[in-house]
Amino acid sequence: MKKMLDLISAEVTKAFEENGYDAKYGKVTLSNRPDLCEYQCNGAMAAAKEYKCAPFMISDKIAECLKENQMFSSVESVKPGFLNLKLSETYLADYVGEMEADKERLGCEKAKNPKTIMIDYGGPNVAKPLHVGHLRSAIIGESVKRIGKFMGHNMIGDVHLGDWGLQMGLIITELKERKPELVYFDENYDGEYPAEPPFTISELEEIYPTASGKSKEDAAYKEAAMQATYELQQGRRGYNALLKHILDVSVNDLKRNYENLNVSFDLWKGESDAQPYIPDMVQKMKDDGFAYISEGALVVDVKEETDTKEIPPCMILKSDGASLYNTTDLATIVWRMKDYNPDELIYVVDKRQELYFTQVFRCARKTGLVKPETKLNFLGFGTMNGKDGKPFKTREGGVMRLEYLVSSINEEMYKKIAENHTVEEAEGKETAKVVALSAIKYGDLSNQASKDYVFDIDRFTSFEGNTGPYILYTIVRIKSILKKYQAEKTMPEGAAILPAHSESEKALMLELSKFNAVMETAFEETAPHKVCAYIYDLANAFNHFYHETKIMAEEDVMVQAGYIKLLELTRKVLETCIDVLGFEAPERM
Ligand code: ARG
Repeated sequence: MKKMLDLISAEVTKAFEENGYDAKYGKVTLSNRPDLCEYQCNGAMAAAKEYKCAPFMISDKIAECLKENQMFSSVESVKPGFLNLKLSETYLADYVGEMEADKERLGCEKAKNPKTIMIDYGGPNVAKPLHVGHLRSAIIGESVKRIGKFMGHNMIGDVHLGDWGLQMGLIITELKERKPELVYFDENYDGEYPAEPPFTISELEEIYPTASGKSKEDAAYKEAAMQATYELQQGRRGYNALLKHILDVSVNDLKRNYENLNVSFDLWKGESDAQPYIPDMVQKMKDDGFAYISEGALVVDVKEETDTKEIPPCMILKSDGASLYNTTDLATIVWRMKDYNPDELIYVVDKRQELYFTQVFRCARKTGLVKPETKLNFLGFGTMNGKDGKPFKTREGGVMRLEYLVSSINEEMYKKIAENHTVEEAEGKETAKVVALSAIKYGDLSNQASKDYVFDIDRFTSFEGNTGPYILYTIVRIKSILKKYQAEKTMPEGAAILPAHSESEKALMLELSKFNAVMETAFEETAPHKVCAYIYDLANAFNHFYHETKIMAEEDVMVQAGYIKLLELTRKVLETCIDVLGFEAPERM
């Protein structure tokens, strides 16, 4: 379906043209004075300059011309030259009715030219537990991916594991200290390595911090870890077999954690997968004359004339020839282009890495790793702070493990739910999990991604205000009315959404009619917070309508059936929106 604003703009534009004015003045926007009108057009103000007359002379003419138009219930020309518009109840009901009939898409058309978009999010580090720093990337990335999918694009999510570098050498070194007899350390061994890993996930999670701690105090230990890393990277068999075990064990655990967050990835590639592409990539950069030696290191200049601040060169290889985080990201672009040929790459990463990504993107473009038209999009997010305004920590001041954070919110939510109702413990716990996830995700996504925000459990878990639980509560309320209606009545033949009977019903319909435009904008601007703002308005409009309207007691069966259809559409729009945000509603709460 066409977007409501476009339909209205088309009519107003026609009126401008019929009166001899340029079409560009007919653009209509949502009203910024909802007390006066629903939509407005300020084109006459600008047109007056071109046509050298008073603005209201133009707006008067346009208003006169639109008076008879079936689309509007009122068109007013207001001095100095504004056009205030109200939609006709019939026109609006027809539009919303058409949305309701479009069961799959609710009036939101898929993109005409679907793009292939790879999205790099999550970025967990193998063998280290997930912490709150990884939460935002997972939540925002998952939502951006789902919004794109809903709009019909081919979205490919890649977790981009941090599985390369010193942390692997540290684990190998510590393991060797503990179990030197393991066959992985025997350089002369040339048989098959065991299929069973020589550690569990809890051992692994303990081994890494122990090793990391030791390396800070013991220079010889650190040296050994660096040597192990080097040998691993040079392809030593036993170490690569260990790397595989570390990956398997770690990835299983990560998958479980992400599943609890309703987050999933199409690809479980890591930094290590980029390594085979490095030598050829570096060689080509040298051959093409882009890479040169500076202070021993191999670099590519990426500064541009228009820069207002210093953008340092992108380092490709360290002076000892070792590759870096940059090298891996560039080589990752190489395989992504080769295997998937995406139109766009989106990175959902902490905004403190912005300069780094500027260097990587410029380098990739300059050296021809991507096509000139390939879009490279850095979606940097701000820090999640505690109530004290400082980065979120445990009470002891340590890094908060994600698992711990999630389970403590689940408990908080369960307490609230158990307070409100008598529920079976098992059902209550399940519901609590679902609601808690909405609290965490909505609390995050309702802020513009680039901003820092305060993680406030009390506010996020509240059933009132701009929160996830409030949205779920609204959906549950609608579901329960629909269930009641289904149990007591049958929908009459020919039921349809009727022209609004009240202001609150019209306001609800006006909100519903914005759905397709909101989804399109949220996609174009990679802005899940726009979906949040929309469903908050929609939930408010619904609750207002609900409080003012006797739905189940309505005697006219056709009017009542129209309400029910309106409720069904509201539920679907809300559920579609929370689905793209990455959470769902329970049956009861
Ligand atoms: N593993 C990194 C970290 O924990 C994040 C990776 C972000 N993605 C990327 N392509 N560099 O900080």
